[in-house]
Amino acid sequence: MNNELPNKQLVADSFSHAAAHYDDVAVLQRQTADELLERLSLVSIQPNRIVDLGAGTGRNLSLLAKRYPKAQLVAVDIAPAMLQQARQVYQQNLGLKRWFPNSNKPIYLAGDAEALPLADNSVDLIFANLSLQWCDPRTSFAEISRVLRPDGLIMFTSLGPDTLTELRQAWASVDDYPHVNMFYDMHDIGTAMMDAGLANPVLDTDRYTLTYDSSMVLMKDLKILGARNVNTARRRGLTGKKSIQAVANKYETFRRDGVLPATYEVIFGHAWAGQKIMNSNEIHISVDQIQGRKS
Ligand SMILES: C[S@@+](CC[C@H](N)C(=O)[O-])C[C@H]1O[C@@H](n2cnc3c(N)ncnc32)[C@H](O)[C@@H]1O
Repeated sequence: MNNELPNKQLVADSFSHAAAHYDDVAVLQRQTADELLERLSLVSIQPNRIVDLGAGTGRNLSLLAKRYPKAQLVAVDIAPAMLQQARQVYQQNLGLKRWFPNSNKPIYLAGDAEALPLADNSVDLIFANLSLQWCDPRTSFAEISRVLRPDGLIMFTSLGPDTLTELRQAWASVDDYPHVNMFYDMHDIGTAMMDAGLANPVLDTDRYTLTYDSSMVLMKDLKILGARNVNTARRRGLTGKKSIQAVANKYETFRRDGVLPATYEVIFGHAWAGQKIMNSNEIHISVDQIQGRKS
């Protein structure tokens, strides 16, 4: 694993800046979240506390609340403006129910997946849709493992290295700077999960292709999403019009059936909390490990 780590403040600022309009263009994010929720429906669990990690504008919070009405929900995100947006969206989705005294009100925590503001062994389910690709998998999965209760489950999606391959290739024909974020591959993620002590990790990848009329629209959408280039070796300063035009020209070579493809390699994964030492006399082993449960 030798990907350069993104600058955290840049990631937080970029997503905070994106919060207001993120939902207008988050097509892939909705699609992968729905698929992740579908996969979650195959697992029989009754979580008491659920963390939506990198909750963004909170669309998935309402869906998780609907599925697990008794659970306490915690939204964690590095971008404070995303959490504000999530709070508003959640209130709107509750409608009149928001006035009921027992309505399930999530807790909103600004924090980093690599240093979770959560106690050890305190969470039953972590749901993370397209947020972990901004993190070092070794640190984030160690944190996930730390906060999961013995029977806890992490379900996530992330992005693999083939993501935005067309844009990456188009930029490579223009200069040598990294213009598209680098992503860890499934094997690095699997190793990080095992090293973190998570049990029975399962990983697979799927390719999604979004189509665009022009590469300018794609680049604009990425900006609206907050998915800025945060590589430390990125080119600083404004990118010239000539370079952007050269990228657009190169991207045209990918045009098929009248549209430009943008490939996303989506990694789906889940794992259970591993063996947990709760105090010096007790070792907790997840039910999954005892029963050899498969989901
Ligand atoms: C592509 S959005 C996905 C949002 C949401 N999960 C969804 O499905 O729409 C990625 C989110 O992860 C958050 N994020 C990025 N790095 C993070 C980190 N290190 N810790 C916590 N959240 C992070 C961003 O602020 C952003 O809200």
